[in-house]
Amino acid sequence: MTNLAHRTILLTGAGRANGIGQATIRALLAAGADRVVATVRAPGQLATLQGEHPGRIDEVVIDLTNATAIAALPAQTGPIHVLINNAGVFTADTALGEGEGEAMWAVNYLAPKRLVRAYASSLAQGAVVNVNSVAGLINFPICAVYSDTKAALHSLTVAQRRELHSQGTQVLGVYPGPIETDMAKGVPFPTTAPAVVAEAIVAALQENTLEVFPDPMAQQIAAAVIQDRQALERSFWPAAATA
Ligand SMILES: NC(=O)c1ccc[n+]([C@@H]2O[C@H](COP(=O)([O-])OP(=O)(O)OC[C@H]3O[C@@H](n4cnc5c(N)ncnc54)[C@H](OP(=O)(O)O)[C@@H]3O)[C@@H](O)[C@H]2O)c1
Repeated sequence: MTNLAHRTILLTGAGRANGIGQATIRALLAAGADRVVATVRAPGQLATLQGEHPGRIDEVVIDLTNATAIAALPAQTGPIHVLINNAGVFTADTALGEGEGEAMWAVNYLAPKRLVRAYASSLAQGAVVNVNSVAGLINFPICAVYSDTKAALHSLTVAQRRELHSQGTQVLGVYPGPIETDMAKGVPFPTTAPAVVAEAIVAALQENTLEVFPDPMAQQIAAAVIQDRQALERSFWPAAATA
C-alpha cells in the first residue's frame, strides 16, 4: 500500500493525548489520509484533535474486550481500508504469578484478531497495522505475560499476512521499544517520543514494508534477536543463588 489519499483508516486506542494513537492520527492526516475513525473508551477524548482537524476525525466509543461490539463495528463505521490495531494493555504479571493477564489477552491479541476478521473484505488493496512491541520478540522480565500476548500478536500478524496476501492487503508489524507514553511511565529504560513511532508507521505504509523497528532500543533488540537470541535471553537472567 503506498497511497494514503482517499483511504478511510480505523485506529484503535486513541484516547490519550500523549499516546502513540493520537500521534499516529496526526501523522496520517499530515500524510494526506482523508478520514480517520478513532476508537476511545470515553466520549470526548478526541475533542482537541478534532478541533485541529475539523471534519477529518470520527470518534467511536468501544470497549475492545467486547466481542459483540467488535462484530457490530463495521455496520457503524462503513468500509475501512487501513486498520491500525494500536490499543494495548500493559500489566506486570509474571510467568509464576497468579495473574493471567486476561485484559491483555483480550485487547492485545483477541481484539486485533476479531477486528481483522470483521473488516477483512474491505481491507483488500489496503493495510493492517499491528502495533506490537519488542516484547513480542523477546520476553522481558518486567512484563512476562504482556510479552506472551505480544508474541501471540506477532504470530497472528504473520498468519494474517499470509491469509490476506491474495487480496493485496499489506500487513505491517510495528515493534517499538520503550515509548514516552502513560504505558511506559516508570520503566527503567530511556524512552523515545511517540511521534517517532507515528512517522515510522506512515513511512512503512507508504513504502509497503512488512516490519518496522522505530526507535534505537527496538533496532538493537531486533538485531540481537536475529543474531543471537539465546545470549540475549540469558542476559535477562538473575544471578544464580549461591550456597
Ligand atoms: N509505550 C511503550 O513503551 C510501548 C512500547 C511498545 C509497544 N507499545 C504498544 O503501543 C500501543 C499504544 O500504547 P501507548 O504507549 O500509546 O499507551 P497508552 O497511551 O496507554 O494507549 C493505549 C490505549 O489503549 C486503550 N485501551 C486499553 N484497553 C482498552 C479496551 N479494553 N478497549 C479499548 N481501548 C483500550 C487505552 O484506552 P484508555 O485511554 O481508555 O485507557 C489507551 O488509549 C499499545 O499496543 C502498546 O502495547 C507501547
